[in-house]
Amino acid sequence: MSEQKILKFPKNFLWGASTSAYQIEGGNTNDWSEWEKSEVRSKQLEKEEKNLDDYICGQACNSYKLFTEDIKCLKELNCSAYRLGLEWARIEPAEGKFNRQAIEHYGLILKTLKENKIKVVLTLWHWTMPVWLSHLGGWNNKKTAAYFARYSELVVKELGDYVDYWVTINEPMLHVANGYLTGKWPPNRRNLAAAWQTYYNLIKAHQAAYDIIHKKFPRAEVGLTMLTNFFEPAHKWNLGEIILAKLANHCWNDRFVKKLKNKFDFLGLDYYFHDRLVWYPPFKKNLNKKISDLGWEIYPQGLEQVLKNYQKFKKPLFIMENGLADADDKLRPDFIKKHLAYIYQAIREGIDVRGYFYWSLLDNFEWDKGYWPKFGLYAVNRKTFKRTARPSAKIYAEICQNNQVEVD
Ligand code: FCB
Repeated sequence: MSEQKILKFPKNFLWGASTSAYQIEGGNTNDWSEWEKSEVRSKQLEKEEKNLDDYICGQACNSYKLFTEDIKCLKELNCSAYRLGLEWARIEPAEGKFNRQAIEHYGLILKTLKENKIKVVLTLWHWTMPVWLSHLGGWNNKKTAAYFARYSELVVKELGDYVDYWVTINEPMLHVANGYLTGKWPPNRRNLAAAWQTYYNLIKAHQAAYDIIHKKFPRAEVGLTMLTNFFEPAHKWNLGEIILAKLANHCWNDRFVKKLKNKFDFLGLDYYFHDRLVWYPPFKKNLNKKISDLGWEIYPQGLEQVLKNYQKFKKPLFIMENGLADADDKLRPDFIKKHLAYIYQAIREGIDVRGYFYWSLLDNFEWDKGYWPKFGLYAVNRKTFKRTARPSAKIYAEICQNNQVEVD
């Protein structure tokens, strides 16, 4: 018979859930919404015989209006923190013209979170941008770091008092890869030089925002989130694979962070992927013993390795995203518990992990994959927007409340 173990987390460990503005708010106009409606995109979906409506973000979860419903869910979950994003396009719909109403509305959301004793983790940029800026070349334009700095300055001035943790930029590497290398995502380019330029512009943007936030709030906690893959050689003793794994780790996980020159107070890690590398194309051969609805391998032990990797930066670490698409909610409870067990293990080894944020609070718009992947602790009815707790929400609520997880 297997024995139940209780893993107690450190006092003040943050328990949260994550979302992003575009994926839940609804009613946004930005570079993504434009792309979704473009001819190129609809032709592509038609060819794949997909129902176009499922790939238009539209009203999303209607969270811009229903944010109090989301806060109710967070309370039910006993979450002590919430990671949410701002929509730059709402705040600055035209160049240099800031929208008071939008700023005040975000102020109201953040204030309500604080009144509910929920710490605010605020993302400034989670992949979508104002249309005017995308017409100027988006992050590929050298000036965009300055535009971002101006937008950040306004947010700091108007909303800064409510923020506990700042995430400047979400997963810069994925934006560079999908926006400028594979061309899958807006701005749909495939150009190495542009990718390289964009990469450095994102670094500058982060550094500028870091300084701006610290100027007004010297003790602010400012970081970013990195999409962190665990790369390992398929065969422990294969030199080619070992080198490949080290190279991939350097390029994908570490290099961007190193280039920030210590301008970060914490690192937010988003963990979804394990890559078991082989030295011949396509260079990846996962065993996929367990997979999510999206076909992503479930590999909790990789999270401990990722945490070990980032220990070298000597800054507090947060798991800012971790979750799976699981419409039936069959795998989610075990998924959460197992990942937490590996975080616990990392903490025992002395790694400074300060919090865990499940992705996602709600079923939402999963970018180019549309609405079918169900990541939420809460299901959302796409017509009525009613939120319904999945069984795993109750399990997560207990974990958050007791600051502990029970595992076999
Ligand atoms: C992450 C994104 C997030 C969500 C999850 C599933 O890479 O940051 O918005 O799409 O993947």
